[in-house]
Amino acid sequence: MKMVTPIVIIQKHLMKYFLAILLLNLSLAAQSQTGLQPGTSVPVNDQIKEDSIPLSQYADAYAVVAGGSKGIGYGIAEALARRKYNLVLIARHMDSLVAAKNKLESHYGVHVEILQHDLSKKESAVEIAQWCTERNLKLKMLCNVAGFGGSKDYLTLSLDSLHYMVNLNIESCMALSLTLLPLLEKNAPSYIMNVASMAGFAPIPIKNMYSATKSAVVFFSYSLRYQLKDRGIGVSVLCPGPVYTKPEIEIETKKKLGFLGKLMAMKPGREGEVAVKKTLKGKLMIIPGTWNRVMSWVVRFLPRRWVTAIYYNLGT
Ligand SMILES: NC(=O)c1ccc[n+]([C@@H]2O[C@H](COP(=O)([O-])OP(=O)(O)OC[C@H]3O[C@@H](n4cnc5c(N)ncnc54)[C@H](OP(=O)(O)O)[C@@H]3O)[C@@H](O)[C@H]2O)c1
Repeated sequence: MKMVTPIVIIQKHLMKYFLAILLLNLSLAAQSQTGLQPGTSVPVNDQIKEDSIPLSQYADAYAVVAGGSKGIGYGIAEALARRKYNLVLIARHMDSLVAAKNKLESHYGVHVEILQHDLSKKESAVEIAQWCTERNLKLKMLCNVAGFGGSKDYLTLSLDSLHYMVNLNIESCMALSLTLLPLLEKNAPSYIMNVASMAGFAPIPIKNMYSATKSAVVFFSYSLRYQLKDRGIGVSVLCPGPVYTKPEIEIETKKKLGFLGKLMAMKPGREGEVAVKKTLKGKLMIIPGTWNRVMSWVVRFLPRRWVTAIYYNLGT
């Protein structure tokens, strides 16, 4: 019979502790999101150098940022404006769209158009593409950012809210990519950046719908990249860990994870900068933050049944 020594017991407990912290981090990535107001200063890591970008290359280029008025979308829009891309920002609320436009135009001297749409609505993708095509926009990048998560999910959400989540998280991303494809192809080389989440790497029972919709975005992006590879359109998928797009996420991350949470969490401006930089470099999977990359690698490596069971037992 095999002896169970105290060292083996300690090792087992350490492993459990490590996995618990790991999965807690990933579930935080699935928390509800509201955004950083454009008036807030967005710190960007000094290590990222802007001087290697030939600005003239982008002088009349446009990028569409669906969900670009706040949070990560605003961070992405700002990173693009820094590179002299003109922008089309899409969101539901006019006040934050106007605030984002004013700030980006005055800080970066780019032209910003704003379109008020609910992206969960079927007609939005067609109307947006029509608007861009009529103006013969030199479209170089489409960023599908808007998404819906939250503390409630399957079993506790109404059927309407479940439809809304699927329509916004999956359908709008797929529909906009398709309706804007002709313009992206015409202006190739061009890029599509889809925003998923680290929550898309594993089933999370308490966030069933959110993790399922985000995994759909990951799979869709992988396949689309190969479907478009001969058309000069790069496809990337951004999988953020916890991003401080509202004070609650910051407070909860610090409270639950302490120092490790601090290591993993990102600010929207930094997230957007890394996302744009790597998309332009043609990277497929983008996971900003070293700790987030390590964690996501472990979760993807472990058997899916184990990860699901651990998430279930954690109840987070
Ligand atoms: N924050 C995180 O920790 C985190 C982690 C992993 C993944 N993500 C993903 O990253 C993306 C952005 O998250 P975030 O935290 O930056 O969100 P956010 O701060 O709430 O910003 C969302 C943006 O999308 C717009 N938007 C939301 N619903 C929309 C709709 N139905 N139609 C049109 N525009 C809509 C919002 O403007 P309006 O409200 O005016 O419409 C806003 O511009 C989401 O897909 C989210 O799932 C976030």
